[in-house]
Amino acid sequence: MKVQKILLSVMAIALAASMSAQVNEMKVKVSKPGAEIQPTMYGIFIEDINFAADGGLYAELVKNRSFEFPNNRLQGWTVGGKLEVMNDGPFERNPHYVRLYYPGHPHKHTGMENDGFFGIGLKKGEQYRFSVWARTPQGGEGRLGVEFIDKASMAEVQASAYAQIVVDSKEWKKYEVVLTSTVTDPKATLRIFLEGAVTVDVEHVSLFPVDTWKGHKNGLRKDLAQALYDLEPGLFRFPGGCIVEGTDLDTRYNWKNSVGPVENRPLNENRWQHTFKHRYYPDYFQSYGLGFYEYFLLSEEIGAEPLPVLSCGLACQFQNETQDAHVPVCDLDSYIQDALDLIEFANGDVNTEWGKLRAEMGHPEPFNLKFIGIGNEQWGPEYPEHLEPFIAAIRKAYPDIKIVGSSGPNSEGDQFDFLWPEMKRLGADLVDEHFYRPEKWFLAQGARYDNYDRKGPKVFAGEYACHGDGKKWNHFEASLLEAAFMTTIERNADIVHMATYAPLFAHIEGWQWRPDLIWFDNLRSMKSCSWYVQRLYTQYQGTNALKLTNMEGQNVTGAEGQNGLFASSVYDADKNQVYIKIINVSDTAQPVKINFEGLKKKETLKGVEAVSYHSDDLDADNTLDEPEKIVPQTSALDFDGKALEVTVAPKTFMVYVLQK
Ligand code: AHR
Repeated sequence: MKVQKILLSVMAIALAASMSAQVNEMKVKVSKPGAEIQPTMYGIFIEDINFAADGGLYAELVKNRSFEFPNNRLQGWTVGGKLEVMNDGPFERNPHYVRLYYPGHPHKHTGMENDGFFGIGLKKGEQYRFSVWARTPQGGEGRLGVEFIDKASMAEVQASAYAQIVVDSKEWKKYEVVLTSTVTDPKATLRIFLEGAVTVDVEHVSLFPVDTWKGHKNGLRKDLAQALYDLEPGLFRFPGGCIVEGTDLDTRYNWKNSVGPVENRPLNENRWQHTFKHRYYPDYFQSYGLGFYEYFLLSEEIGAEPLPVLSCGLACQFQNETQDAHVPVCDLDSYIQDALDLIEFANGDVNTEWGKLRAEMGHPEPFNLKFIGIGNEQWGPEYPEHLEPFIAAIRKAYPDIKIVGSSGPNSEGDQFDFLWPEMKRLGADLVDEHFYRPEKWFLAQGARYDNYDRKGPKVFAGEYACHGDGKKWNHFEASLLEAAFMTTIERNADIVHMATYAPLFAHIEGWQWRPDLIWFDNLRSMKSCSWYVQRLYTQYQGTNALKLTNMEGQNVTGAEGQNGLFASSVYDADKNQVYIKIINVSDTAQPVKINFEGLKKKETLKGVEAVSYHSDDLDADNTLDEPEKIVPQTSALDFDGKALEVTVAPKTFMVYVLQK
């Protein structure tokens, strides 16, 4: 009995050893670069959700700067003394302003405070540009005191910076002063006092860090724009998402309201203020301060092709079940004109109406727009009916612009199956697919694009993220499955031309949707594990797909019998390098042998580096306190030969870099 037991356990050990030693053999055709990897392949998508723009990337620190929040013109402001909201201001589309009166007694004060977006983030020694449009309606010389204060301070004086503005005209004028913060405070308050007895009117009260991205006035938060730049995205989709459609047509994103002088861009309701009752933000509006000009400029500065998306005349179909919520096809002219005008704004000669505006805003050179999306997550026969006249008009006026249509909100199913052939019939150049899906979906999608119709439109995987089952937040394992899924994008570069993770940004105190690519508070930001996965794909993007299969000629897609491995490979013609990406989603280390095929007799590949992305804690992610807790590790790859033998650790994303 004892002997039998020993024998059995010896056999079990031997079996385990032989099983764990089972080598996953693959081959890569390194001599034959395949489909071109489009420069637009890995991009970003920004929508003003989670306070991504107002309160986030857009560096304005004052909330409700124009006193236009509709339910309460003073929302976001705490006021005292004697003042009044007026509505005949200098900016016709933002007519409200505040009149500050002498309170009637020298020991009383009229003042107003703004807490910005979850507080105003100040850094010690940094400069902040305060500006205000003001006048003294009854004449005389008015005075405004401007302070940064810390309401929680136990110091005698709450203010950490002070400046005075002298308002010297009965006419509206812009006044500016730069204050230097003497403290670091993530939750400071801006306070304005009327000083003296002369009545002063104030409008468009604004505060920006001087040190914005590229130093632009009306600029962007530097660390957040830098995180986009660091990703080296090839594509930049904007402004939505559902925001394009609006909860109703009145609140759809109207790009024409987002250009021209910033003081006169009308406010829009942000649909994410009320979309989720369990994450309700009644003070979430779109100032349009980060509008289409700023978007095109940022795209240029980070080297990404812009992909604007416009309304097709259908309001959000999730929230509107009746046809009267939408524009009838026969009334689409102004919507179609909006699309044509946007292309003119981006590319038109400075003598055209919209090209002239672009030049006046500071960019006489065209932005060289190549793509436009019409509609977001639309569905049903009404979508192709609406899209068709847009396609006809855009093709006629701008035959070179590529048009992106939609396959609806789902990654498969009836609507999806209906829309793909419809997009093909209408001749859309690309079709936008969205999938926020759980682990098991990502695990099953390693071959998603392997059998797609090669004669139809190209694919734009426009919104995707792994939403863990019961773990709908950022964590390493979700990013690992995104990495695994992305092998099917890379392998099928002949038809997949664009892919953008979503959403992009989230304020830790103001989010409606997670996971997200980049998180921030008022002073800090962190790149999630998903960001690092995206970055590994852009860093090792290559120029051409290479054929990588197992020895039986099957793609390595995590299929049954493939031991939880997903793999793809690309060639970089500029560096003459081969990149191999292998993701091991299993719990066991996997020995892998990669045979390089097509090399000449004496030719070998030489190892350059191996990059490993792994976290022992699969539920962890980077945090604002530890932003670099989980980052890729690079080591030298000591290799010279025709077959690379490696072991890929469990739950790990590996990139192997080889020189030809
Ligand atoms: O990314 C968040 C939302 O998800 C987008 O606005 C919409 O397109 C999708 O439903």
